[in-house]
Amino acid sequence: MTDDIHNSSTETIPGTAELPAHVAIIMDGNGRWAKRRGMPRIAGHKRGLEAVRTAVKVCVDKGIPYLTLFAFSSENWRRPPTEVQLLMELFANALESKARKLHDNDVRLRVVGDIVRFSSKIRMLINRAENLTRDNKTLNLTIAANYGGRWDIAKACRNVALEVANGDLDPNDISEQDLGRHLSTRFLPEPDLFVRTGGEQRISNFLLWQLAYTELYFTDTLWPDFDAEAWELALNSFMNRQRRFGQTGDQVMGAQKITNA
Ligand code: IPE
Ligand code: IPE
Ligand code: MG
Repeated sequence: MTDDIHNSSTETIPGTAELPAHVAIIMDGNGRWAKRRGMPRIAGHKRGLEAVRTAVKVCVDKGIPYLTLFAFSSENWRRPPTEVQLLMELFANALESKARKLHDNDVRLRVVGDIVRFSSKIRMLINRAENLTRDNKTLNLTIAANYGGRWDIAKACRNVALEVANGDLDPNDISEQDLGRHLSTRFLPEPDLFVRTGGEQRISNFLLWQLAYTELYFTDTLWPDFDAEAWELALNSFMNRQRRFGQTGDQVMGAQKITNA
């Protein structure tokens, strides 16, 4: 594919031919996966954890340095209390049992979201896993839990307002960067590729600010079925796109020639 692009003289639609550095995923479809098999929804969530393991392995193997996963939205509290309860137990168990394995694979784990709403046990396990893995470099795995894009932006605004109130920032100077450095994802580059499994084509209050120029990929594949092959399809789709960021295709090609010269 790389050859195609670099040797193409005329009509080939030029993709980036590069892997995304940051993939952000809405892991949807666990419930339906279970329902189709006559199993309880929680069985789908458990299988979803296996797909998380696959995702981490694919990113580590391919050298994709940032993976962000939407695990629980600020709206998911509206689910039946028993499902919420079981999801919390699954989250706690995963934090407890997988932290060491992540660490052994040089994965840095971080959780973004309004974690004060979680039990003290979960908060402690989050702290412990984040501390254990804080110096790891191969993969930055970020779990969005009790996360909402609007919550994130509102919180950033409050922090910017505090800087203004403290006299550290002139309101007339507030920039996109000022908001950006107060977002919960400030330590991450913006996502290059967004994936939503499970067939729905919506953002569901995930990374609203951060997805401004992200390539969007929607698939009917349910999250527990999102295996290595499904990853290939998503990554190939990304690599065949031309990211223009407002420029024309010719401008982008010209810049590519200069970079490749
Ligand atoms: C995504 O799967 C996991 C969470 C939101 C926790 P769902 O539970 O939304 O699965 P469906 O959409 O009902 O199939
Ligand atoms: C989005 O999935 C949240 C997560 C995957 C954690 P939902 O299944 O909750 O989204 P909606 O409610 O269908 O939009
Ligand atoms: Mg869903």
